[in-house]
Amino acid sequence: VIVVIMGVTGCGKTTVGAQVAARLGVGFAEGDRFHPPANVTKMSRGEPLADADRWPWLAEIAAEIDRVHTAGAGLVVGCSALKRGYRDVLIGPRRAVRLVYLKGTPELIAARLAARHGHFMPASLLPSQFAALEEPGPDERPIVADVSAPPEQIVDRVLAALACGAAGQQRSGGGA
Ligand SMILES: Nc1ncnc2c1ncn2[C@@H]1O[C@H](COP(=O)(O)OP(=O)(O)OP(=O)(O)O)[C@@H](O)[C@H]1O
Ligand SMILES: [Mg+2]
Repeated sequence: VIVVIMGVTGCGKTTVGAQVAARLGVGFAEGDRFHPPANVTKMSRGEPLADADRWPWLAEIAAEIDRVHTAGAGLVVGCSALKRGYRDVLIGPRRAVRLVYLKGTPELIAARLAARHGHFMPASLLPSQFAALEEPGPDERPIVADVSAPPEQIVDRVLAALACGAAGQQRSGGGA
């Protein structure tokens, strides 16, 4: 199984993604690791990236997904993938790749970022991330998880939804 876990900075991609990967017994990759150094420098200055900065980054992640798929292995990759066009590069016709969207309010996620330390992504980028965010549509078959739940609960719900396979859009979280 290959999973792309998406959402704005601070939504919990690393926290939840690493646990989902561990439970699946597959590797976890940080999408950030595939950024060219120039992008990291820009982001750490609080400058939003331009799309021109993003295409080479997304292509690198897509290549990693293809490598893993060809090897018959599994992977969870955390990547903001805010826009449909970005997800089309990562997932597109790769039907074996499942999308998990960690959904939360700006208020909740801002509070989590304010409490997080030792990370290069400054909280000042959050408003621009919400402005850029295009939530996934039903045709992307997303597993949508409400991030107000504790991480362990989100992980359980994501795993349950993955086990349902191609049973259409799975809603996960929010106590619904
Ligand atoms: N469900 C949750 N409940 C409570 N705290 C959480 C939850 N998920 C994540 N956190 C905390 O919120 C902060 C942001 O989470 P995390 O670093 O995993 O987000 P991220 O999506 O990987 O962010 P970035 O895109 O900047 O890498 C961390 O301090 C993490 O411990
Ligand atoms: Mg992260």
